[in-house]
Amino acid sequence: MKKLSSRAVAAQLILQVLDKGQSLSALMVEVQPKLAEKDVPFVQEITFGVCRVLPRLEWIIRLLVAKPLKGKTRLVHCLLLVGLYQILYMRVPTHAAVGEVVKASQELKLQSFKGLINGVLRQFLREQESILAKVDKNWQTNHPEWFVNKLKKAYPNWREIIDANNERPPMWLRVNAQHSTRDDYAVRLGDNFAKSSQDTTACCVPDCAIMLNNPVAVSSLPDFENGFVTVQDGHAQWSAKLLEPQNEELILDACAAPGGKTTHILEQAPQAKVIALDIEKNRLKRVSENLQRLNQTAEIICGDASQPDLWLEKGVMFDRILLDVPCSATGIIRRHPDIKWLRKESDIAELVKLQAKILNAMWQRLKPNGTLLYATCSILPDENSEQIQSFVENTENAKLVEMDFNGEKVTMKQFFPNAQGGDGFFYAKLVKTDSE
Ligand SMILES: C[S@@+](CC[C@H](N)C(=O)[O-])C[C@H]1O[C@@H](n2cnc3c(N)ncnc32)[C@H](O)[C@@H]1O
Repeated sequence: MKKLSSRAVAAQLILQVLDKGQSLSALMVEVQPKLAEKDVPFVQEITFGVCRVLPRLEWIIRLLVAKPLKGKTRLVHCLLLVGLYQILYMRVPTHAAVGEVVKASQELKLQSFKGLINGVLRQFLREQESILAKVDKNWQTNHPEWFVNKLKKAYPNWREIIDANNERPPMWLRVNAQHSTRDDYAVRLGDNFAKSSQDTTACCVPDCAIMLNNPVAVSSLPDFENGFVTVQDGHAQWSAKLLEPQNEELILDACAAPGGKTTHILEQAPQAKVIALDIEKNRLKRVSENLQRLNQTAEIICGDASQPDLWLEKGVMFDRILLDVPCSATGIIRRHPDIKWLRKESDIAELVKLQAKILNAMWQRLKPNGTLLYATCSILPDENSEQIQSFVENTENAKLVEMDFNGEKVTMKQFFPNAQGGDGFFYAKLVKTDSE
């Protein structure tokens, strides 16, 4: 069977995200083997890009197409999104942008819509200026309204957060202290080392975090295969640092996959006995691969963190627990812009319930004087400060511990996505007082 062109694949992927609620990153992993190697970055750029600016493109289509394209014609709508994105945001010659999308419609057996697609894209090219003047009259959030309203309620600087979400994120590396110092590895990166990541006020872990000037394929990073570095956001690198794992301790990474934080724990305390738990068997494969690359050992368990009795012997208690709980992922929208369209407002209350359930269950398995670090990649107070406040109020032997972020001392830390920095992240460190 003939392979589909990159535009046809891109339109299909966008349809699956918007109408079937599938994750774009997961779809990309599935589709990659079916694409020519050179087409992968192209499809990635279009699909992630369309998700980033979807409302702007949808508005243009509304102005140009008399009747909304529904039902079976949704794929035609997605082809128009692909065409408009190329014209507006990519350096594709306009004749190719239009011609190739029209061709893609034929491959997808939508030849009866060739005229419509051709006509709409050509009309846009002719009247671009006046159409964009209408569309861009007001500042656009390119985010769902419910989310913008939630941000407005929580933060006076909500516009800054939205703008940062609409940017492309920098690539961060974490240097493995078992192999190299951060400074030595920075020298090996040469010009691609972003000097600004040296600035500790950027609020990143000073002894391992490196930001790159330009994203690169991991295969081009010095000694990547030998475990010298791991790709991990700058703010995410605080997790293992704040947990302060010690050799010989029994440590649980309770929501571990794909293992970014498990491996950091073992870089810091190679002799710690670490259990990496996750509810999703498939995702645990990535934990094994990451441990293997870094030549580390951890026990991997597939289980539910809210029901430890089902996978953990009675009486087993941990010195430290990292709870990187399932969350709305609203702090990493710039990396995964599809989150904006996959997440629904009603998901938040469900997630808050699940997080509380996991937190309460895991607390029972923490030793007296043990430490639990609660982390999310969310920027919503419901999942973060409010969740922890309510847990501390209702749990007699839970105490918040002060954390030190390069001199900023706080008991709860909300990071926001930052153009020259890390993603949105939340941390709270709890200690179990001896009073049981
Ligand atoms: C934020 S991700 C973890 C990222 C990981 N800590 C890292 O740094 O690579 C949350 C994880 O929680 C897992 N998860 C969701 N519900 C769970 C549950 N009830 N018990 C255990 N894991 C769960 C998901 O499968 C997902 O892998």
